Amino acid sequence: MEKRSIIEILRHGQPEQTLPIEGWVRTKRELKGFAFVEVNDGSALANLQVVIPGEFPDYGELLKAIAIGASVAVSGSLQASQGKGQRLELIPTRFEVIGSSDPETYPLQKKRHTFEFLRDIGHLRSRTNTLGAVFRVRNACAWAIHQFFQSRGFLWVHTPIITTNDCEGAGELFRVTNLDLAHLPQTPAGGVDFSQDFFGKPAYLTVSGQLEAEVMALAFSQVYTFGPTFRAENSNTSRHLAEFWMVEPEMAFCDLIGNMDLAEDFLQFVFNHVLEHCSEDLEFFNQRIDNTVLATAENIVNHEFARITYTAAIGLLEKSDRSFNYPVAWGLDLQSEHERYLAEELFKKPVIVTDYPAEIKAFYMRLSDDGKTVAAMDILAPKIGEIIGGSQREERLDLLDQRIAAAQMPLEDLWWYRDLRRYGTVPHAGFGLGFERLVQFMTGMGNIRDVIPFPRTPLTAEF
Ligand code: 4AD
Ligand code: MG
Repeated sequence: MEKRSIIEILRHGQPEQTLPIEGWVRTKRELKGFAFVEVNDGSALANLQVVIPGEFPDYGELLKAIAIGASVAVSGSLQASQGKGQRLELIPTRFEVIGSSDPETYPLQKKRHTFEFLRDIGHLRSRTNTLGAVFRVRNACAWAIHQFFQSRGFLWVHTPIITTNDCEGAGELFRVTNLDLAHLPQTPAGGVDFSQDFFGKPAYLTVSGQLEAEVMALAFSQVYTFGPTFRAENSNTSRHLAEFWMVEPEMAFCDLIGNMDLAEDFLQFVFNHVLEHCSEDLEFFNQRIDNTVLATAENIVNHEFARITYTAAIGLLEKSDRSFNYPVAWGLDLQSEHERYLAEELFKKPVIVTDYPAEIKAFYMRLSDDGKTVAAMDILAPKIGEIIGGSQREERLDLLDQRIAAAQMPLEDLWWYRDLRRYGTVPHAGFGLGFERLVQFMTGMGNIRDVIPFPRTPLTAEF
């Protein structure tokens, strides 16, 4: 007998079909003369209902063995269900408990658990309805992202996890070393002698694959990376992780407008794909987590994003009657409360903010003719704030060198990056999408720790 997932059976199964299923018990209800057992295999939100008749061999023993969380293998025939809530149910001819579970200690009971509690049982929480739906949507987003770029001829490139540069210049780096921390080699001046470290110099986990993506874009024209990035920022917020996944396209022969157009098409494509392929899960989020999820998704797919300059955004914030916690003034960075006000309340859709002051943005962004702003773009989403950060890159060596100097970064470490401006330089642009923020945006999940299977945040790296 061919093995099929529960989602396939629920969608395409026919009464009288005989087939096997495998999964974990979600609930068991014993009634007079028969019992209902709901089995879930993670393929869908819905369970397959197995109805065990009282005449089943060793019925009493079997029901004792069937506990919530136990793994089971069942075969039998599908029947049109008489109960409401499901089209089909399975009447078993064989019911085997593969791995038992202890109902006294199994932490997932048939009730609502808080997300905080579920984080403490990160090894089991994926078996809940909500986290199950999150990780199916996450998978669909990842698949859609590859489809989008592949269909447009972008090359998927793999940028390094270990680097010796700080792309964002923010100093939020995790160090990578194999030196014996209890006996660090010293330089004559009394510092740590990194020439004796594994790479012969200080090395870190990457905060962004951008600089290497630029290298590849200047050979392949259009590339993207999709990988883990690491930031040792000590911010305990619902939108920050120490380890998160980033999608970074980089395009040669492209300016800021082309970059914005791509980012907008990209988000619309991904939302459209998930609406089509995860409708049941999105429905669930809309009902149980945030009743604006479906409207938000439709809004993204069907409407253009707003586009304003940073200077205009500051003007709008200054005009608002809202009292913000952080000051608003030209030259200061936008805080998440400002970003959310713009996207959530003023425009009620994603807003692309461009042309930020040079001083608050990274060294690689292209200086504009006004000499004050750079060709940067951030996409701000309702509820999330910044979801995408990107820019046109500085392709002129002299100006790049000035920015590197202003950022007090060591010129010699970036020799290869500067070479790109010496040999066949070209206007180019790209952006980074925070993958978990996208999944948050898509699902309405309030905390970023609940959209990645194993979150890493300050003081937390269990599992
Ligand atoms: O704005 P960021 O810092 O941009 C870059 O790293 C560029 N090098 C990207 C590029 O142009 N190729 O980060 C990009 C995005 C942010 O907009 C945000 O969505 C997400 O990454 N992000 C985080 N997500 C979760 N946890 C964190 N600590 C994040 N920091 C940034
Ligand atoms: Mg940013």
